[in-house]
Amino acid sequence: MSAKHESGRFVIAQFSDLHCGDPRYDERLLHLVIDRVNDLSPDLVVVPGDLTVSGYRDEYEIAKAQLDRLACNEVVVIPGNHDSRNVGYIHFIELFGDRWTARDLHFATSAPELGCEHVRVVSVDSSKPDLNDGELGRHRYEWLTDQLEDVPGFKIVAIHHHLVGIPGTGRERNIVLDAGDVLEILDRYKVDLVLAGHRHVPYAWQVNDTLIVTSGTACTWRTRGDTPPSYNIVTILPDEIEVETFGFDGEGSRRVRRFPRRHRCGEPL
Ligand SMILES: [Fe+2]
Ligand SMILES: [Fe+2]
Repeated sequence: MSAKHESGRFVIAQFSDLHCGDPRYDERLLHLVIDRVNDLSPDLVVVPGDLTVSGYRDEYEIAKAQLDRLACNEVVVIPGNHDSRNVGYIHFIELFGDRWTARDLHFATSAPELGCEHVRVVSVDSSKPDLNDGELGRHRYEWLTDQLEDVPGFKIVAIHHHLVGIPGTGRERNIVLDAGDVLEILDRYKVDLVLAGHRHVPYAWQVNDTLIVTSGTACTWRTRGDTPPSYNIVTILPDEIEVETFGFDGEGSRRVRRFPRRHRCGEPL
């Protein structure tokens, strides 16, 4: 695992698809993920959706109790399609807050070479009540572009559904219905990093200069083929973004991929 947060790097823990309440939910794994994340002391934690299996209050309360164990001061949680079943988005708002958010993080301790003193994190809700499909919708584009324009630093967008197909997940379904238009916005506004979930298989695609990182299911055995439950540690380095995926198979696997960064934070867009 990466070293604890240190100057010169910005560390993000990403885990999703907890599906609390599901018969295949494994609380032992969620404990382990949160313990490891706390031990790592990341700068940011992103949980991109599917906290529950059916959006019920008791499922939400399990997720809330677990996520409250996170020690990180900056935790971004968004709903997934399962969380919007049975009008579950009401519980989401009560327990986790707004479904669409934008926040600015400032890290005075970052090394100058990282150039990442300013990070904007925008979270969007791609779920629709009682549907598995993902969509942002044209009526939301103006809000999204408002959050992304004139931002000098590193830009992160969190979304539950996938914008590009994920290998090893079988027949394509539920991809963001307006993925083409959303991708064009992300590219036009020079978003550096997208963090997603939903398909239960971890992967990373670089589309033009935007890196899209998908997390697997962190703590369920709703897995596909041989892909185990897993979580990601995404580290922003001066010239690269490193994506580490830790899998719960056997002794525990670790896969590392590195991608070039779009641009140095702070440079003019
Ligand atoms: Fe899921
Ligand atoms: Fe999902």
